[in-house]
Amino acid sequence: MSLFLTFEGPEGSGKSTQARLLYESLHARRFPVVLVREPGGTRIGDLIRRIVLDLQHTEMAPTTETLLFSAARAQLVSEVIRPYLEQGGIVLCDRYADSTYAYQGYGLGRDLAELRVITNAATGGLRPDITVYLDLSAEEGLERKRRKRQGLPPVEQRAVPVEWNRLDARELAYHERVESGYRELISADPARWHVFDARLSIESLAAQIEAVVEPYLATIRTLEATP
Ligand SMILES: Nc1ncnc2c1ncn2[C@@H]1O[C@H](COP(=O)(O)OP(=O)(O)OP(=O)(O)O)[C@@H](O)[C@H]1O
Ligand SMILES: [Mg+2]
Repeated sequence: MSLFLTFEGPEGSGKSTQARLLYESLHARRFPVVLVREPGGTRIGDLIRRIVLDLQHTEMAPTTETLLFSAARAQLVSEVIRPYLEQGGIVLCDRYADSTYAYQGYGLGRDLAELRVITNAATGGLRPDITVYLDLSAEEGLERKRRKRQGLPPVEQRAVPVEWNRLDARELAYHERVESGYRELISADPARWHVFDARLSIESLAAQIEAVVEPYLATIRTLEATP
């Protein structure tokens, strides 16, 4: 068996922080695990990431944006995610297809049916077993990132470096549409989504997320101890 887990949520909600902690914990427990992020996670995908998130690319058409995200995803699925799952591993992915529905669909108003077709072409229909949703208002998430950018002390110390990109810079109304889009995605598929209050401490969230993952671990073979 294998496990495909994705992290979703608004900007600054703690996805990368929790993805890293879960990766470290599973790795320490000798589970075969990889952590990737979207867009990126491959050499080609990282190049696409630079194009799509560049603050100077203000002229980027919504269709271009959608197709670039999807191109990076197609590369990630075929190069990393699918082969690793086929070997019985655990793949942790910091954002995945739901981000396309939330950001390009609900946020930018792109047709959701069209996005599903593009996404299925990119992923070959591969869906996560579990999606962790870090629930935070758009305003609070952006405020966390702003503090970090301005060199103000973070609310919590243990975290990954924060970035400010072309999508973060969009207006608050856009981010609020994204957030309510996520709510619709969650209510359409409640069994897959696990919603956490992102205002809890980093440690408490990490423990809660690991508790959700725990039952799946029984089916994953750990790496052999090296003699
Ligand atoms: N549980 C938490 N409580 C308070 N602050 C937190 C918490 N988790 C993370 N942070 C802080 O919030 C900021 C954003 O965290 P992080 O980069 O993990 O979020 P993200 O969801 O990956 O953001 P992005 O959408 O930019 O990728 C960081 O400054 C981090 O220190
Ligand atoms: Mg992040």
